[in-house]
Amino acid sequence: MISAIKGMNDLFGEKAFRWGKMEEDIKKMMVSANFGEFRTPILEEIALFKRGVGETTDVVKKEMYDFLDKKGRHVAMRPEGTASVVRAFVEHGIGINYPLPFKAFYIAPFFRYERPQKGRFRQFHQFGVEIFGDETPQMDAEMIFTASRVLEHFGIDYEIHLNSIGCKNCRAAYREKLIEYFSAKKDELCEDCRTRLELNPLRLLDCKACDPKNRFTDVPKMTDYLCDDCKNHFEELQKALHAFGVPFVLDPFIVRGLDYYTKTAFEIVAKTGGSQNAVAGGGRYDNLVSDIGGSDTPATGFAMGLERLFDLIPEDFYKEVPLSAGYALCDEAVLQLVEFTKKMSKENMRFLADYKPKKLKKALQKAEKTNASFVFVIGEDEAANGKILMKNMATREQILFDKDDIQGIIKEISEAKKALPAD
Ligand code: HAM
Repeated sequence: MISAIKGMNDLFGEKAFRWGKMEEDIKKMMVSANFGEFRTPILEEIALFKRGVGETTDVVKKEMYDFLDKKGRHVAMRPEGTASVVRAFVEHGIGINYPLPFKAFYIAPFFRYERPQKGRFRQFHQFGVEIFGDETPQMDAEMIFTASRVLEHFGIDYEIHLNSIGCKNCRAAYREKLIEYFSAKKDELCEDCRTRLELNPLRLLDCKACDPKNRFTDVPKMTDYLCDDCKNHFEELQKALHAFGVPFVLDPFIVRGLDYYTKTAFEIVAKTGGSQNAVAGGGRYDNLVSDIGGSDTPATGFAMGLERLFDLIPEDFYKEVPLSAGYALCDEAVLQLVEFTKKMSKENMRFLADYKPKKLKKALQKAEKTNASFVFVIGEDEAANGKILMKNMATREQILFDKDDIQGIIKEISEAKKALPAD
């Protein structure tokens, strides 16, 4: 038997229905907040992620799905969206051809070769936003507010962990401080962290294996090393978040797993669901556009893991429109059922027709299996008199309709729907 690739999921049935609704809601919210949809290809040159996300990050070093294509070009399946949107922003001269700030959102699949576990997959989906051309802390606050609005829409209890990781200038001093601090503790670090200490010491604060930020006391904090500009930005950001009414906690050890961040960095964890995993993360990346070859353009954004978001949404948040099913009980009823199906379909009613004539008992048994809330049957009498019998499966009530009285039928269904537990 051929099965799906480990860490990659199929989606169908009731879950697909709720997933689709979740995406629809997010899209509606983004469009009304003036974000435009942005789609980029799944495959990119690997150089984009090496330069954009950072060669020493786990995402690039260990988790990339990369290969040589038929012409020997080294390509990668995108592990995240920011680098691709930035590449497109530069390639299409968006900074010149469109008014700034330019606000984009995406809902798309991403690929990371991670060890699959709850909430962690090799193909996963993100909803993300990227805002270009605005350096203000207030725009960072609006970006974080956007993430919080989505979580609030779905009734999720969350906590925002906020930090500033400074800029190129002030981070250098912090880097040195971290190297000095952890060099003295080298023997107590895991092997990965010993390498990180040389290549990318901030990454140490992210390590789940030897967990240095919690194991040691007095670990230096970036916020103590911020330059005046970064410090001011961080203070104004907090004021703007208060003005947006977005609650947050300061967390000096949020460093993020990707290298492009400057100043603002944040993660959101859900307080329900028992998972320690972040449901969203993001921040400012003022150097990425120029690193990818564009002109200096400040930018900020976040991404939310849709599998994680979906797991947090209560199962009864979306209810499917109740299903109706129709059965022909004799040969004469078959074409009448065809006509009835056509009319129900034109009215966008969720209707499932079974044209193969069968006894009433069998039809009802099939209807039970499909979970239909309303069942329509055309037997010999009904066929002869132009009628159709509707049965409400919850109340067992039966009503005889003229088979052309579609509006009467729809009215009855929508009245009865209100009383249905599934609605
Ligand atoms: P990230 O923190 O790597 O940031 O990913 C964002 C979210 O994607 C995570 O908080 C998590 O919910 C979800 N996620 C990540 N990896 C997996 C996985 N293997 N399985 C399931 N869900 C996962 C970024 O990707 C940045 N591009 C965010 C950003 C946008 N920063 C600025 N703009």
